[in-house]
Amino acid sequence: MMKKLLKDIRFEAGNGRRQFLKIAGYGALGLMAGGFRPLLDQAAAGQHGDVISKTGFVPDIDISLVAKPGDLAMFPGAATQIWQYHAKVIKGDKNRVVELPRSYLGPIIKAHRGEKIRIRFTNSIPEPSIVHWHGLHVPAVMDGHPRYVVPQGESYLYEFEVKNRAGTYWYHPHPHGRTGPQVYGGLAGLFLVSDAQEQSLGLPDGEYDVPLVIQDRAFDGDNQLLYMPGNRMAQMTGFLGDSILVNGRPDVTLPVSTTAYRLRLLNGSNSRIYRLAWQDGHSLTIIGSDGGLLEKPVSRGYVFLAPGERIELWSDFSDRPVGYETALISLPFDGGAMGRGMMMGGRMGSNQSIPNGANVSIFSIKVTKSVNIKRVLPQRLSEMSAIQETGADNYERPRQFYLNMGHMQWTINGRVFQMQGVADEEIVQLGSKEIWEFHNTGGGMMRMPHPIHLHGKQFRVIGRNGVRHQGYVDEGWKDTVLLMPGEGIRIQVAFDDYPGLFLYHCHNLEHEDMGMMRNYYVRKV
Ligand code: C2O
Ligand code: CU
Ligand code: CU
Repeated sequence: MMKKLLKDIRFEAGNGRRQFLKIAGYGALGLMAGGFRPLLDQAAAGQHGDVISKTGFVPDIDISLVAKPGDLAMFPGAATQIWQYHAKVIKGDKNRVVELPRSYLGPIIKAHRGEKIRIRFTNSIPEPSIVHWHGLHVPAVMDGHPRYVVPQGESYLYEFEVKNRAGTYWYHPHPHGRTGPQVYGGLAGLFLVSDAQEQSLGLPDGEYDVPLVIQDRAFDGDNQLLYMPGNRMAQMTGFLGDSILVNGRPDVTLPVSTTAYRLRLLNGSNSRIYRLAWQDGHSLTIIGSDGGLLEKPVSRGYVFLAPGERIELWSDFSDRPVGYETALISLPFDGGAMGRGMMMGGRMGSNQSIPNGANVSIFSIKVTKSVNIKRVLPQRLSEMSAIQETGADNYERPRQFYLNMGHMQWTINGRVFQMQGVADEEIVQLGSKEIWEFHNTGGGMMRMPHPIHLHGKQFRVIGRNGVRHQGYVDEGWKDTVLLMPGEGIRIQVAFDDYPGLFLYHCHNLEHEDMGMMRNYYVRKV
Protein backbone atom coordinates (compact mmCIF):
# COMPACT_ATOMS: atom_id res chain seq x y z
CA MET A 1 0.00 0.00 0.00
CA MET A 2 3.00 2.25 0.31
CA LYS A 3 5.05 4.21 -2.16
CA LYS A 4 2.68 4.37 -5.03
CA LEU A 5 3.70 6.70 -7.79
CA LEU A 6 1.02 7.88 -10.14
CA LYS A 7 1.47 7.97 -13.83
CA ASP A 8 0.08 11.47 -14.24
CA ILE A 9 2.34 12.74 -11.53
CA ARG A 10 5.41 11.28 -13.14
CA PHE A 11 4.33 13.10 -16.25
CA GLU A 12 4.18 16.29 -14.27
CA ALA A 13 7.68 15.68 -12.96
CA GLY A 14 8.97 15.19 -16.48
CA ASN A 15 7.30 18.40 -17.45
CA GLY A 16 9.07 20.25 -14.70
CA ARG A 17 12.46 19.07 -15.87
CA ARG A 18 11.80 20.11 -19.42
CA GLN A 19 10.86 23.54 -18.19
CA PHE A 20 14.09 23.71 -16.29
CA LEU A 21 16.15 22.98 -19.37
CA LYS A 22 14.37 25.68 -21.30
CA ILE A 23 14.98 28.13 -18.55
CA ALA A 24 18.64 27.27 -18.45
CA GLY A 25 18.57 28.24 -22.11
CA TYR A 26 17.23 31.68 -21.27
CA GLY A 27 19.98 32.09 -18.73
CA ALA A 28 22.61 31.24 -21.31
CA LEU A 29 21.25 33.98 -23.51
CA GLY A 30 21.96 36.37 -20.73
CA LEU A 31 18.40 37.58 -20.63
CA MET A 32 17.91 36.66 -17.05
CA ALA A 33 20.86 36.03 -14.81
CA GLY A 34 20.22 32.97 -12.74
CA GLY A 35 16.97 32.30 -14.53
CA PHE A 36 13.49 32.33 -13.07
CA ARG A 37 11.75 29.03 -13.11
CA PRO A 38 9.40 27.50 -13.87
CA LEU A 39 7.48 30.42 -15.29
CA LEU A 40 10.31 31.75 -17.35
CA ASP A 41 9.42 29.60 -20.28
CA GLN A 42 6.28 31.72 -20.44
CA ALA A 43 8.14 34.97 -20.09
CA ALA A 44 10.57 37.02 -22.09
CA ALA A 45 12.87 39.80 -21.02
CA GLY A 46 11.64 43.32 -21.51
CA GLN A 47 13.55 46.48 -22.28
CA HIS A 48 15.09 47.11 -18.90
CA GLY A 49 15.48 43.54 -17.85
CA ASP A 50 11.84 43.53 -16.78
CA VAL A 51 10.02 40.27 -16.86
CA ILE A 52 7.19 40.48 -19.36
CA SER A 53 4.90 37.55 -18.99
CA LYS A 54 3.63 35.95 -22.15
CA THR A 55 0.64 34.86 -20.16
CA GLY A 56 -0.35 38.50 -20.05
CA PHE A 57 0.19 38.75 -16.34
CA VAL A 58 0.38 42.42 -15.45
CA PRO A 59 1.26 42.77 -11.78
CA ASP A 60 -0.20 45.48 -9.59
CA ILE A 61 2.78 44.99 -7.32
CA ASP A 62 6.15 43.68 -8.42
CA ILE A 63 8.52 42.75 -5.62
CA SER A 64 12.00 41.35 -5.40
CA LEU A 65 12.62 39.07 -2.45
CA VAL A 66 16.06 37.80 -1.52
CA ALA A 67 16.99 35.29 1.16
CA LYS A 68 20.53 35.93 2.33
CA PRO A 69 22.89 35.58 5.27
CA GLY A 70 23.46 38.57 7.49
CA ASP A 71 24.06 39.57 11.07
CA LEU A 72 22.07 41.50 13.59
CA ALA A 73 22.98 43.12 16.88
CA MET A 74 20.46 41.37 19.11
CA PHE A 75 22.39 41.43 22.37
CA PRO A 76 25.36 43.31 23.79
CA GLY A 77 28.52 41.80 22.35
CA ALA A 78 28.81 39.83 19.16
CA ALA A 79 26.22 40.23 16.41
CA THR A 80 24.01 37.19 15.77
CA GLN A 81 24.45 35.41 12.44
CA ILE A 82 21.09 35.07 10.74
CA TRP A 83 19.38 34.32 7.46
CA GLN A 84 16.96 36.99 6.39
CA TYR A 85 14.47 37.90 3.68
CA HIS A 86 14.92 41.32 2.12
CA ALA A 87 12.24 42.75 -0.14
CA LYS A 88 11.96 45.73 -2.43
CA VAL A 89 9.03 47.05 -4.40
CA ILE A 90 10.05 47.25 -8.04
CA LYS A 91 6.67 48.45 -9.26
CA GLY A 92 3.63 49.62 -7.36
CA ASP A 93 2.97 51.17 -3.97
CA LYS A 94 6.23 51.28 -2.00
CA ASN A 95 4.34 50.92 1.28
CA ARG A 96 3.47 47.32 0.45
CA VAL A 97 6.76 46.20 1.93
CA VAL A 98 7.23 47.14 5.58
CA GLU A 99 10.49 46.38 7.37
CA LEU A 100 10.43 45.30 10.99
CA PRO A 101 13.15 47.34 12.68
CA ARG A 102 15.90 45.44 14.47
CA SER A 103 14.45 42.09 13.54
CA TYR A 104 15.71 39.07 11.63
CA LEU A 105 12.17 38.59 10.31
CA GLY A 106 11.48 39.38 6.69
CA PRO A 107 9.47 42.49 5.85
CA ILE A 108 5.69 42.44 6.03
CA ILE A 109 4.24 42.17 2.55
CA LYS A 110 0.83 43.83 2.16
CA ALA A 111 -1.66 43.15 -0.59
CA HIS A 112 -5.29 43.84 -1.31
CA ARG A 113 -7.63 41.07 -2.34
CA GLY A 114 -7.85 40.82 -6.10
CA GLU A 115 -4.43 42.30 -6.72
CA LYS A 116 -1.91 40.60 -8.94
CA ILE A 117 1.43 40.05 -7.30
CA ARG A 118 4.75 39.21 -8.87
CA ILE A 119 7.54 38.16 -6.55
CA ARG A 120 11.02 37.58 -7.92
CA PHE A 121 12.63 35.38 -5.34
CA THR A 122 16.40 34.98 -5.31
CA ASN A 123 18.04 32.43 -3.09
CA SER A 124 21.34 33.70 -1.71
CA ILE A 125 21.71 31.32 1.22
CA PRO A 126 24.23 28.50 0.78
CA GLU A 127 21.65 25.73 0.36
CA PRO A 128 18.55 25.07 -1.75
CA SER A 129 15.40 26.91 -0.76
CA ILE A 130 11.96 27.95 -1.99
CA VAL A 131 9.28 30.25 -0.60
CA HIS A 132 5.85 29.04 0.46
CA TRP A 133 2.91 31.44 0.99
CA HIS A 134 1.31 29.92 4.04
CA GLY A 135 -2.47 30.15 3.86
CA LEU A 136 -2.67 31.72 0.41
CA HIS A 137 -4.81 30.08 -2.22
CA VAL A 138 -2.47 29.93 -5.20
CA PRO A 139 -1.84 27.53 -8.11
CA ALA A 140 0.32 24.49 -7.36
CA VAL A 141 3.33 25.88 -9.23
CA MET A 142 3.19 29.06 -7.08
CA ASP A 143 2.87 27.28 -3.75
CA GLY A 144 6.53 26.68 -2.98
CA HIS A 145 6.47 22.89 -3.02
CA PRO A 146 9.92 21.45 -2.16
CA ARG A 147 10.24 20.03 -5.68
CA TYR A 148 10.72 23.62 -6.84
CA VAL A 149 13.74 24.43 -4.68
CA VAL A 150 16.39 26.59 -6.27
CA PRO A 151 20.09 26.41 -5.37
CA GLN A 152 22.09 29.36 -4.12
CA GLY A 153 22.31 32.08 -6.74
CA GLU A 154 19.14 31.08 -8.57
CA SER A 155 15.70 32.57 -8.69
CA TYR A 156 12.06 31.57 -8.83
CA LEU A 157 9.32 33.72 -10.24
CA TYR A 158 5.96 33.88 -8.52
CA GLU A 159 2.93 35.40 -10.18
CA PHE A 160 -0.48 35.06 -8.61
CA GLU A 161 -3.68 36.85 -7.86
CA VAL A 162 -4.49 37.33 -4.19
CA LYS A 163 -7.77 35.49 -3.82
CA ASN A 164 -7.84 35.15 -0.06
CA ARG A 165 -10.08 36.99 2.33
CA ALA A 166 -8.45 39.78 4.32
CA GLY A 167 -6.28 38.21 6.98
CA THR A 168 -2.90 37.43 8.44
CA TYR A 169 -0.92 35.05 6.27
CA TRP A 170 2.81 34.44 6.17
CA TYR A 171 5.71 33.22 4.07
CA HIS A 172 8.59 30.91 4.90
CA PRO A 173 10.98 28.46 3.21
CA HIS A 174 9.86 24.96 2.28
CA PRO A 175 12.80 22.79 1.14
CA HIS A 176 12.39 19.18 2.15
CA GLY A 177 14.33 18.33 5.29
CA ARG A 178 15.59 21.88 5.89
CA THR A 179 12.48 23.95 6.61
CA GLY A 180 13.11 23.82 10.37
CA PRO A 181 16.68 25.17 10.28
CA GLN A 182 15.91 27.78 7.61
CA VAL A 183 12.92 29.22 9.45
CA TYR A 184 14.91 29.04 12.65
CA GLY A 185 17.77 30.96 11.06
CA GLY A 186 15.37 33.85 10.49
CA LEU A 187 13.56 33.17 7.22
CA ALA A 188 9.91 34.07 7.78
CA GLY A 189 7.67 37.06 7.26
CA LEU A 190 4.05 38.13 7.37
CA PHE A 191 1.82 38.55 4.34
CA LEU A 192 -1.18 40.70 5.22
CA VAL A 193 -4.21 40.80 2.97
CA SER A 194 -6.85 43.52 3.14
CA ASP A 195 -10.20 43.75 1.41
CA ALA A 196 -13.16 46.11 1.13
CA GLN A 197 -15.36 44.13 3.49
CA GLU A 198 -12.74 44.31 6.23
CA GLN A 199 -12.10 48.00 5.62
CA SER A 200 -15.81 48.80 5.98
CA LEU A 201 -15.64 47.68 9.63
CA GLY A 202 -13.38 50.46 10.86
CA LEU A 203 -11.13 48.11 12.81
CA PRO A 204 -8.08 49.59 14.55
CA ASP A 205 -5.48 50.41 11.91
CA GLY A 206 -2.13 52.13 11.56
CA GLU A 207 -0.27 52.03 14.88
CA TYR A 208 -3.28 50.29 16.44
CA ASP A 209 -2.94 47.27 14.15
CA VAL A 210 0.01 45.36 15.57
CA PRO A 211 1.54 42.21 14.10
CA LEU A 212 3.23 40.00 16.70
CA VAL A 213 5.24 37.00 15.56
CA ILE A 214 5.97 34.64 18.43
CA GLN A 215 9.01 32.34 18.23
CA ASP A 216 11.37 30.60 20.60
CA ARG A 217 15.12 30.48 20.16
CA ALA A 218 18.27 29.42 21.99
CA PHE A 219 21.58 31.29 21.92
CA ASP A 220 25.08 30.28 22.93
CA GLY A 221 27.42 32.40 25.05
CA ASP A 222 28.54 34.14 21.88
CA ASN A 223 25.02 35.29 20.94
CA GLN A 224 24.79 32.71 18.15
CA LEU A 225 21.66 30.72 17.42
CA LEU A 226 21.67 27.14 18.62
CA TYR A 227 19.63 24.52 16.85
CA MET A 228 19.23 20.75 17.16
CA PRO A 229 21.97 18.72 18.73
CA GLY A 230 21.48 15.95 16.17
CA ASN A 231 19.83 13.77 18.74
CA ARG A 232 16.99 11.76 17.24
CA MET A 233 14.90 11.94 20.37
CA ALA A 234 15.12 15.73 20.43
CA GLN A 235 14.14 15.79 16.79
CA MET A 236 11.13 13.58 17.49
CA THR A 237 9.96 16.22 19.92
CA GLY A 238 10.96 19.23 17.90
CA PHE A 239 13.07 22.22 18.71
CA LEU A 240 12.35 23.99 22.00
CA GLY A 241 14.33 27.09 22.90
CA ASP A 242 15.05 28.86 26.14
CA SER A 243 13.83 32.32 25.22
CA ILE A 244 10.63 33.63 23.71
CA LEU A 245 11.01 36.29 21.04
CA VAL A 246 8.34 38.58 19.65
CA ASN A 247 9.03 40.04 16.20
CA GLY A 248 12.57 38.78 16.67
CA ARG A 249 13.18 40.58 19.99
CA PRO A 250 13.49 39.19 23.52
CA ASP A 251 11.64 40.69 26.51
CA VAL A 252 9.24 42.78 24.47
CA THR A 253 7.05 45.41 26.08
CA LEU A 254 4.34 46.89 23.91
CA PRO A 255 3.50 50.46 24.91
CA VAL A 256 -0.22 51.07 24.29
CA SER A 257 -2.66 53.96 24.45
CA THR A 258 -6.09 53.91 26.05
CA THR A 259 -7.93 52.64 23.01
CA ALA A 260 -8.67 49.46 21.08
CA TYR A 261 -5.99 47.45 19.28
CA ARG A 262 -6.01 44.74 16.70
CA LEU A 263 -3.26 42.33 17.70
CA ARG A 264 -2.34 39.85 14.98
CA LEU A 265 -0.56 36.88 16.48
CA LEU A 266 1.39 34.33 14.46
CA ASN A 267 3.04 31.36 16.08
CA GLY A 268 6.18 31.21 13.94
CA SER A 269 7.95 28.81 16.30
CA ASN A 270 9.34 25.53 15.03
CA SER A 271 7.48 23.33 17.48
CA ARG A 272 6.41 25.26 20.55
CA ILE A 273 2.69 25.50 21.27
CA TYR A 274 1.33 28.37 23.34
CA ARG A 275 -1.74 28.37 25.54
CA LEU A 276 -2.33 32.09 25.41
CA ALA A 277 -4.03 34.09 28.14
CA TRP A 278 -3.93 37.58 29.65
CA GLN A 279 -2.03 37.67 32.87
CA ASP A 280 -4.61 39.97 34.48
CA GLY A 281 -7.37 37.40 34.00
CA HIS A 282 -9.27 39.28 31.28
CA SER A 283 -10.57 36.92 28.65
CA LEU A 284 -9.27 37.06 25.09
CA THR A 285 -11.54 38.56 22.45
CA ILE A 286 -10.79 36.83 19.17
CA ILE A 287 -11.87 38.44 15.92
CA GLY A 288 -9.85 36.48 13.38
CA SER A 289 -8.01 33.22 12.75
CA ASP A 290 -5.91 31.69 9.97
CA GLY A 291 -8.21 32.63 7.11
CA GLY A 292 -9.27 36.09 8.26
CA LEU A 293 -12.13 37.54 10.27
CA LEU A 294 -14.58 35.33 12.11
CA GLU A 295 -18.29 35.78 11.59
CA LYS A 296 -18.52 37.37 15.03
CA PRO A 297 -16.10 37.91 17.90
CA VAL A 298 -15.62 35.04 20.33
CA SER A 299 -14.37 35.14 23.87
CA ARG A 300 -12.04 32.58 25.44
CA GLY A 301 -10.26 32.29 28.75
CA TYR A 302 -7.29 30.88 26.85
CA VAL A 303 -6.41 29.96 23.30
CA PHE A 304 -3.98 27.41 21.92
CA LEU A 305 -1.72 28.71 19.19
CA ALA A 306 0.27 25.99 17.47
CA PRO A 307 3.10 26.53 14.96
CA GLY A 308 1.66 28.02 11.77
CA GLU A 309 -1.61 29.20 13.34
CA ARG A 310 -2.75 32.82 13.60
CA ILE A 311 -5.32 34.56 15.74
CA GLU A 312 -6.33 38.18 15.80
CA LEU A 313 -7.32 39.78 19.09
CA TRP A 314 -9.42 42.83 19.80
CA SER A 315 -7.80 44.36 22.88
CA ASP A 316 -9.37 47.48 24.28
CA PHE A 317 -7.35 49.38 26.89
CA SER A 318 -9.68 52.37 27.10
CA ASP A 319 -10.79 51.51 30.65
CA ARG A 320 -7.24 51.09 32.00
CA PRO A 321 -5.27 53.84 33.65
CA VAL A 322 -1.99 55.08 32.29
CA GLY A 323 0.71 53.02 33.97
CA TYR A 324 -1.38 49.84 33.87
CA GLU A 325 0.65 46.74 33.07
CA THR A 326 -0.25 43.26 32.03
CA ALA A 327 1.24 40.52 29.85
CA LEU A 328 0.30 37.92 27.34
CA ILE A 329 1.39 34.66 28.87
CA SER A 330 1.34 30.98 28.00
CA LEU A 331 -0.36 28.84 30.62
CA PRO A 332 0.92 25.37 31.42
CA PHE A 333 -0.61 22.38 29.67
CA ASP A 334 0.06 18.71 29.19
CA GLY A 335 1.87 18.54 25.88
CA GLY A 336 2.01 14.74 25.92
CA ALA A 337 4.76 12.39 26.93
CA MET A 338 7.28 13.79 24.46
CA GLY A 339 6.95 17.28 25.80
CA ARG A 340 8.28 15.98 29.06
CA GLY A 341 10.76 13.62 27.43
CA MET A 342 12.47 16.62 25.97
CA MET A 343 12.96 18.13 29.35
CA MET A 344 14.47 14.95 30.77
CA GLY A 345 17.13 14.62 28.15
CA GLY A 346 18.02 18.27 28.11
CA ARG A 347 18.62 19.69 24.70
CA MET A 348 22.03 21.01 24.05
CA GLY A 349 25.15 22.25 25.70
CA SER A 350 24.63 24.50 28.65
CA ASN A 351 21.25 25.81 27.58
CA GLN A 352 18.20 24.53 29.35
CA SER A 353 15.22 24.50 27.01
CA ILE A 354 11.81 25.40 28.32
CA PRO A 355 9.54 22.37 27.92
CA ASN A 356 6.46 22.61 25.74
CA GLY A 357 3.53 23.41 28.00
CA ALA A 358 5.56 25.43 30.48
CA ASN A 359 4.32 28.67 31.99
CA VAL A 360 6.04 31.54 30.14
CA SER A 361 5.57 35.23 29.54
CA ILE A 362 5.37 36.20 25.89
CA PHE A 363 5.25 39.98 25.91
CA SER A 364 4.29 42.74 28.32
CA ILE A 365 1.78 45.50 27.78
CA LYS A 366 2.10 48.88 29.36
CA VAL A 367 -0.48 51.65 29.04
CA THR A 368 1.63 54.75 28.44
CA LYS A 369 -0.69 57.28 26.85
CA SER A 370 -4.21 58.52 27.21
CA VAL A 371 -5.97 59.12 23.90
CA ASN A 372 -9.54 59.78 22.97
CA ILE A 373 -10.17 57.29 20.17
CA LYS A 374 -13.37 55.37 20.76
CA ARG A 375 -13.92 52.21 18.81
CA VAL A 376 -16.77 49.79 19.05
CA LEU A 377 -16.18 46.11 18.47
CA PRO A 378 -18.38 45.14 15.51
CA GLN A 379 -20.69 42.30 16.46
CA ARG A 380 -20.77 41.17 12.85
CA LEU A 381 -17.28 40.79 11.38
CA SER A 382 -17.84 38.88 8.17
CA GLU A 383 -20.22 36.61 6.31
CA MET A 384 -19.56 32.93 6.69
CA SER A 385 -21.73 30.32 5.03
CA ALA A 386 -22.99 27.47 7.17
CA ILE A 387 -21.13 24.19 6.81
CA GLN A 388 -23.17 21.83 4.61
CA GLU A 389 -21.78 18.55 5.87
CA THR A 390 -24.21 16.39 3.93
CA GLY A 391 -23.30 18.27 0.78
CA ALA A 392 -19.79 16.81 0.80
CA ASP A 393 -19.05 14.35 -2.01
CA ASN A 394 -17.60 11.82 0.42
CA TYR A 395 -20.13 12.37 3.20
CA GLU A 396 -20.72 8.60 3.48
CA ARG A 397 -17.01 7.78 3.67
CA PRO A 398 -14.85 10.68 4.84
CA ARG A 399 -11.13 10.45 4.10
CA GLN A 400 -9.20 9.14 7.10
CA PHE A 401 -5.70 10.20 8.14
CA TYR A 402 -3.99 8.60 11.10
CA LEU A 403 -1.07 10.36 12.72
CA ASN A 404 1.27 7.79 14.10
CA MET A 405 4.79 6.79 14.87
CA GLY A 406 6.89 3.95 13.56
CA HIS A 407 10.63 3.33 13.83
CA MET A 408 11.42 6.66 15.48
CA GLN A 409 9.58 8.41 12.69
CA TRP A 410 6.28 10.30 12.67
CA THR A 411 3.97 9.15 9.90
CA ILE A 412 0.64 9.94 8.25
CA ASN A 413 -1.30 6.78 7.45
CA GLY A 414 1.95 4.89 7.95
CA ARG A 415 3.82 6.83 5.30
CA VAL A 416 6.52 9.47 5.21
CA PHE A 417 7.11 12.17 2.61
CA GLN A 418 7.99 11.30 -0.97
CA MET A 419 8.75 14.20 -3.27
CA GLN A 420 6.29 13.21 -5.97
CA GLY A 421 4.54 10.38 -4.19
CA VAL A 422 0.77 10.23 -3.83
CA ALA A 423 -1.24 7.29 -2.54
CA ASP A 424 -4.68 6.45 -3.93
CA GLU A 425 -6.31 7.88 -0.85
CA GLU A 426 -4.52 11.18 -1.43
CA ILE A 427 -6.08 11.87 -4.82
CA VAL A 428 -9.05 14.20 -4.96
CA GLN A 429 -11.14 15.32 -7.90
CA LEU A 430 -11.09 18.92 -8.98
CA GLY A 431 -14.46 20.44 -8.17
CA SER A 432 -15.20 18.16 -5.25
CA LYS A 433 -16.06 19.10 -1.72
CA GLU A 434 -14.81 16.69 0.91
CA ILE A 435 -14.71 15.77 4.55
CA TRP A 436 -11.30 14.81 5.90
CA GLU A 437 -10.71 13.31 9.31
CA PHE A 438 -7.41 13.38 11.17
CA HIS A 439 -6.83 11.19 14.20
CA ASN A 440 -4.03 11.75 16.68
CA THR A 441 -4.51 8.46 18.40
CA GLY A 442 -1.14 6.85 17.75
CA GLY A 443 2.30 7.32 19.15
CA GLY A 444 1.92 4.98 22.10
CA MET A 445 4.24 6.15 24.84
CA MET A 446 5.40 9.02 22.65
CA ARG A 447 2.10 10.72 22.10
CA MET A 448 2.48 14.31 20.98
CA PRO A 449 0.43 17.22 19.74
CA HIS A 450 0.49 17.67 15.95
CA PRO A 451 -0.64 20.86 14.19
CA ILE A 452 -1.93 19.70 10.82
CA HIS A 453 -1.68 22.08 7.88
CA LEU A 454 -3.09 21.91 4.36
CA HIS A 455 -1.45 23.86 1.58
CA GLY A 456 -3.40 25.98 -0.83
CA LYS A 457 -6.68 25.79 1.05
CA GLN A 458 -8.68 27.35 3.81
CA PHE A 459 -11.07 24.83 5.34
CA ARG A 460 -13.77 24.70 7.98
CA VAL A 461 -13.76 22.61 11.12
CA ILE A 462 -16.92 20.52 11.45
CA GLY A 463 -16.07 19.11 14.84
CA ARG A 464 -13.68 17.30 17.10
CA ASN A 465 -13.79 14.27 19.33
CA GLY A 466 -11.77 13.31 22.35
CA VAL A 467 -11.38 17.00 23.09
CA ARG A 468 -10.02 17.88 26.50
CA HIS A 469 -9.51 21.58 25.84
CA GLN A 470 -11.61 24.72 25.45
CA GLY A 471 -8.86 26.73 23.84
CA TYR A 472 -9.59 26.14 20.16
CA VAL A 473 -10.89 28.77 17.79
CA ASP A 474 -12.51 26.47 15.25
CA GLU A 475 -15.17 28.96 14.22
CA GLY A 476 -13.43 30.60 11.28
CA TRP A 477 -11.51 29.61 8.18
CA LYS A 478 -8.46 27.52 9.04
CA ASP A 479 -5.37 26.22 7.31
CA THR A 480 -3.68 24.73 10.38
CA VAL A 481 -5.38 22.86 13.22
CA LEU A 482 -3.92 21.52 16.43
CA LEU A 483 -4.61 17.96 17.47
CA MET A 484 -3.66 17.17 21.03
CA PRO A 485 -2.88 13.52 21.82
CA GLY A 486 -6.05 11.44 21.60
CA GLU A 487 -7.95 14.01 19.61
CA GLY A 488 -9.66 13.63 16.26
CA ILE A 489 -10.89 16.34 13.94
CA ARG A 490 -13.33 16.54 11.07
CA ILE A 491 -12.84 19.25 8.47
CA GLN A 492 -14.59 20.27 5.27
CA VAL A 493 -12.55 21.39 2.31
CA ALA A 494 -13.54 22.31 -1.25
CA PHE A 495 -11.20 21.66 -4.18
CA ASP A 496 -12.96 24.06 -6.48
CA ASP A 497 -9.99 25.20 -8.51
CA TYR A 498 -6.23 24.79 -8.97
CA PRO A 499 -5.35 21.23 -9.92
CA GLY A 500 -1.99 19.67 -9.09
CA LEU A 501 0.21 18.54 -6.29
CA PHE A 502 -0.10 20.20 -2.87
CA LEU A 503 1.26 19.37 0.55
CA TYR A 504 -0.37 18.56 3.82
CA HIS A 505 1.80 18.07 6.87
CA CYS A 506 2.47 18.51 10.53
CA HIS A 507 3.61 22.10 11.14
CA ASN A 508 5.96 21.05 13.92
CA LEU A 509 8.86 21.86 11.61
CA GLU A 510 11.08 19.07 12.91
CA HIS A 511 8.28 16.57 12.33
CA GLU A 512 7.80 18.01 8.87
CA ASP A 513 11.51 17.78 8.08
CA MET A 514 11.56 14.18 9.28
CA GLY A 515 8.86 13.36 6.76
CA MET A 516 5.54 13.88 8.56
CA MET A 517 4.36 15.39 5.31
CA ARG A 518 2.58 14.06 2.26
CA ASN A 519 1.23 15.25 -1.05
CA TYR A 520 -2.38 15.37 -2.06
CA TYR A 521 -3.17 15.55 -5.71
CA VAL A 522 -6.08 17.49 -7.15
CA ARG A 523 -6.87 15.72 -10.40
CA LYS A 524 -8.68 17.34 -13.27
CA VAL A 525 -11.68 15.24 -14.19
CU1 C2O B 1 3.65 26.97 6.82
CU2 C2O B 1 3.89 23.72 4.43
O1 C2O B 1 3.75 25.35 5.61
CU1 CU C 1 1.41 26.31 4.13
CU1 CU D 1 3.80 16.45 14.41
